[in-house]
Amino acid sequence: MMKTKRITIDMTLPLEEQLAEAGQLLKDGQLVAFPTETVYGLGANGLDEMAAKKIYTAKGRPSDNPLILHIAEKDDIIPLTEEVPMNARVLIDAFWPGPLTLVVKRSAIVPRLTAGGLDTVAVRMPDADIARALIRMAGVPIAAPSANLSGRPSPTTAKTVAEDMDGRIAMIVDGGACHIGVESTIVDCTSPVPTVLRPGGITVEMLTDVLGAVEIDKGLTDESVKPKAPGMKYRHYAPEAETILFEGETERKRDGLIKAAMDAVCMKKCVGALVSRELAERLPADVITVSYGDKAELASLLYDTLRGFDEKGADVIYLEGVDESDIGLAVMNRLRKASGNRIVTA
Ligand code: TXA
Ligand code: MG
Repeated sequence: MMKTKRITIDMTLPLEEQLAEAGQLLKDGQLVAFPTETVYGLGANGLDEMAAKKIYTAKGRPSDNPLILHIAEKDDIIPLTEEVPMNARVLIDAFWPGPLTLVVKRSAIVPRLTAGGLDTVAVRMPDADIARALIRMAGVPIAAPSANLSGRPSPTTAKTVAEDMDGRIAMIVDGGACHIGVESTIVDCTSPVPTVLRPGGITVEMLTDVLGAVEIDKGLTDESVKPKAPGMKYRHYAPEAETILFEGETERKRDGLIKAAMDAVCMKKCVGALVSRELAERLPADVITVSYGDKAELASLLYDTLRGFDEKGADVIYLEGVDESDIGLAVMNRLRKASGNRIVTA
């Protein structure tokens, strides 16, 4: 086991000095976890095949699941790709820096392993100042998947990164909690109509506004179709406890969840519930209840809550579904995966 160093960033002081050692570790081919606006990333030099290999080992990630390259300036995408298509330019102007990842044709400088053997590459310019400062210090594009063990919920705090990565990586940069809380939206720009491969922080409504039309990968909703983003086929974001998602008409869905929670409490089970404030008030006092005011708040606390239920020893977890407009689409995609598609539709 290696010793994992932890540094805490003070946003009132210059970032360059504070990130100098982290940048050097990345240059030396080591792994450094760092915050972005979506979730914490597990960074390595994206042009160094050996460094990328360490990511797969540290996460226990299947090697056919490609990594996202993170860049500090818009133009840094140019050397990574054969071509920046017109629709990608439009999206870059509208949404970078931000929670949007673009899939484009891969150039020869991107190692095969980084791209999971595909002839395309995923690129994102994050909005978080710490992330961009770190990329600049390293001087190379940074390959960074979410900093969790493969299959676990993504980390949105340095504490949850440490739960999964302590002893496996060189450094964790603690920059506080990630404010969006679900991963970036992935858009494939190599198809004639840009296609959403993973819903995320930039919503389908926002994409449609600037592009006119987008498609949504059928593999996201139809279980018989293989998703185009290799990572979307895995059971992801999964807590250890049995997890059930309640969907459907608001009142019936809530009644169903309340009844399930009461039954489980009667059977002396430890119950976790992630629900709206309205529903929270109606649940038995024994239920470990985490509630949210709106969908954005749900996105920001989703992953930490799922981990927290496991930590508290929940036997079952009940999740209240939300409508799929705006950030709701990304949230419901993660909730369905967390439940392993155990869904009760009222
Ligand atoms: O918000 C995010 O995107 C975070 C932060 C750290 O930036 N990163 C992240 O990375 O979520 P990761 O590795 O956990 O998820 C990357 C997803 C996987 O589902 C992978 O299969 C897909 O992106 N992907 C990567 N390259 C691709 C490509 N060339 N074509 C299709 N899908 C790709
Ligand atoms: Mg991930």
